[in-house]
Amino acid sequence: MDLGIKGKTALVLGASQGIGAGIARALAAEGCNVIVGARREDVLAELVAELKSKNGVEAEAYSIDMTDKAAVAAMCEKIQGEWQPEILLNNAGGPPGGNIIGVDDEIWEASLQALLMSVIRISEAALEAMIERQWGRILTVTSSGVIAPIPTIPVSNVVRSGIVSYSKTLANEVAKHGITVNTIIPGRIDTERTVNMDKFASEKQGISVEDVQKKSWAQIPAGRYGSVEEFADVAAFLLSARASYVTGSQIRIDGGTIKNV
Ligand SMILES: NC(=O)c1ccc[n+]([C@@H]2O[C@H](COP(=O)([O-])OP(=O)(O)OC[C@H]3O[C@@H](n4cnc5c(N)ncnc54)[C@H](OP(=O)(O)O)[C@@H]3O)[C@@H](O)[C@H]2O)c1
Repeated sequence: MDLGIKGKTALVLGASQGIGAGIARALAAEGCNVIVGARREDVLAELVAELKSKNGVEAEAYSIDMTDKAAVAAMCEKIQGEWQPEILLNNAGGPPGGNIIGVDDEIWEASLQALLMSVIRISEAALEAMIERQWGRILTVTSSGVIAPIPTIPVSNVVRSGIVSYSKTLANEVAKHGITVNTIIPGRIDTERTVNMDKFASEKQGISVEDVQKKSWAQIPAGRYGSVEEFADVAAFLLSARASYVTGSQIRIDGGTIKNV
């Protein structure tokens, strides 16, 4: 299936590894020119070189810390000016875990900034040109905690629920301009983050990483973690011309993990 996005410009955030990098690769494979953002410019530079040589597309790296309000404002100027992306993938790292009582103000503020306020400002900046062109795609990576709160990552549950509500509200406002706004939910996807979490659990529980994985897989109807490619394929479709009637939705890529319907 031709996704109909060849030659379009995509801004992909949280793209130096994991899900974000996978989505950048999937979009470049469809012929999109890609701007990849995250904090580590050296890692992004390697990805840019790969995307250019493999896919013959234009690619650019942009170093951004989504917790930094001023840096996000500067990036928004690039979005409104030279980039004007038709496709926007919002993504960044997850907040630290712990109990919900007693979370430091600094953690709340950094997480709200990175995962909610920055997404709002970046989306608004991108919307200007999308409305002018009467075409646009905005997709934000969330977490299964927005459907069934995960006790160990309360800040993620709270902040990401805000983005679900924002996306649905925005979707209704901009649908008439040919712009879709959706969120996408990873269950357990096999990224660097998941590898690190399993190592941490292995040390904490005093069992091998393999046994931690077996315990995790037993909770997943598909019996395994999802691959980055499986996640990125669905994201690329949602960001494509073909998904023109999907908006205001939360799409789960979880192998059946989330228990609620
Ligand atoms: N993988 C899963 O199973 C899973 C499940 C549920 C939810 N999620 C959520 O989905 C998102 C992506 O998951 P992942 O597994 O791909 O995560 P990951 O491997 O930790 O990658 C996170 C990406 O975000 C970037 N990033 C982190 N903090 C940032 C900041 N302050 N400003 C800008 N960029 C930042 C990182 O690059 P730099 O370090 O270079 O900035 C990296 O490229 C995360 O928010 C995660 O919490 C993932």
